[in-house]
Amino acid sequence: MAAMKLLEVLGGHPVYPPPIWMMRQAGRYLPEYRATRKSTGSFLDLCYNPDLAVEVTMQPIRRFGFDAAILFSDILVIPHALGRDLRFEEGAGPLMTPLSEGDIVGLDTSRLQDKLAPVYETVSRLRRDLPTETALIGFCGAPWTVATYMIAGRGTPDQAPARLFGHSFPESFGRLLDIIADCSAEHLIRQIDAGADAVQIFDSWAGVLDEASFRDWCLRPVARMVRKVRERHPQVPIIGFPRGAGSFYSDYREETGVTALGLDWTLPLPVARQLQATGPVQGNLDPTRLLAGGKALSEGVDAILRELGGGPLIFNLGHGIMPGTPIEHVEAMIRQVRGAQ
Ligand code: CP3
Repeated sequence: MAAMKLLEVLGGHPVYPPPIWMMRQAGRYLPEYRATRKSTGSFLDLCYNPDLAVEVTMQPIRRFGFDAAILFSDILVIPHALGRDLRFEEGAGPLMTPLSEGDIVGLDTSRLQDKLAPVYETVSRLRRDLPTETALIGFCGAPWTVATYMIAGRGTPDQAPARLFGHSFPESFGRLLDIIADCSAEHLIRQIDAGADAVQIFDSWAGVLDEASFRDWCLRPVARMVRKVRERHPQVPIIGFPRGAGSFYSDYREETGVTALGLDWTLPLPVARQLQATGPVQGNLDPTRLLAGGKALSEGVDAILRELGGGPLIFNLGHGIMPGTPIEHVEAMIRQVRGAQ
């Protein structure tokens, strides 16, 4: 079996040129994704249809030959499986009925595995269809980030509704985070059972919390998840992506026990390099450099390779690829990374 470069790096061994994949690599910047999406009812239909979810997961692998595929799904399938209504509207993103304090006791965890069965089916088909050297990454959202959408009922610029909820009802909020953490840990375990080689926890809104809240709402629930996943699958690497965590990044690795840190682009490369001394890092190209292309792109790629190429590095963006990004820019980025001496 061909070795998976991604797993080598996650095992702490530097590989150069580094393995590369992109967050949101299956998505609207790809004409083949837009075509599949157009022929499907809704975004959620796409997530729960194994034939289509396998197809869109494979699209960027076929086109670019990335070192890892990421399961096509969404972090909000957890609240959806807990009985919250969810729809995706063009331009508005995800929409849900905002969760009130009284709704927390009514969250129904009993049908989770049933409702998410198509996702595990997708994972097992993918592991069968993917080239042996391509790692398959499963994922979920971190409890805090998922809770921000459940409480506000939509994306918000500063997550103020969830922060206010947490400070107004600390005990209920703690219970909500524990429910999401336990369901999400189980979701990751099932994805690994079905064939995921590694998993990533997306904490996209980790960067808006004060220190005490970061500890209670971000570190504590993620540590709980990592513990649960490790009880069942001690060897499977876990990538944590606490976007915007800044000076909390080193505590994040230490206190959650994640294998690797996903870095956003605002983290200075010398700091990233210090973090890399304690374990693998992933990132952290600004997606607008990829959108712009040319010198902005090549300089950004070069800086990451120069500063982090000597240690365990997974080349990636610092957040998801932006919808208007030209295919040629993605090709240029891959050429530069793979051609690195
Ligand atoms: O990375 C991949 O290619 C795998 C699939 C994936 C999607 N969402 C597909 C998707 C992954 C890993 C996610 C994670 C996700 N979903 C996050 C964390 C990462 C991040 O971007 O911060 C969050 C916060 C969500 C919730 C979500 N889903 C939002 C806010 C939106 C609307 C914004 C947008 O980009 O459209 C979505 C929809 C979504 N999830 C799309 C895709 C491909 C676009 C849906 C469409 O086709 O119209």
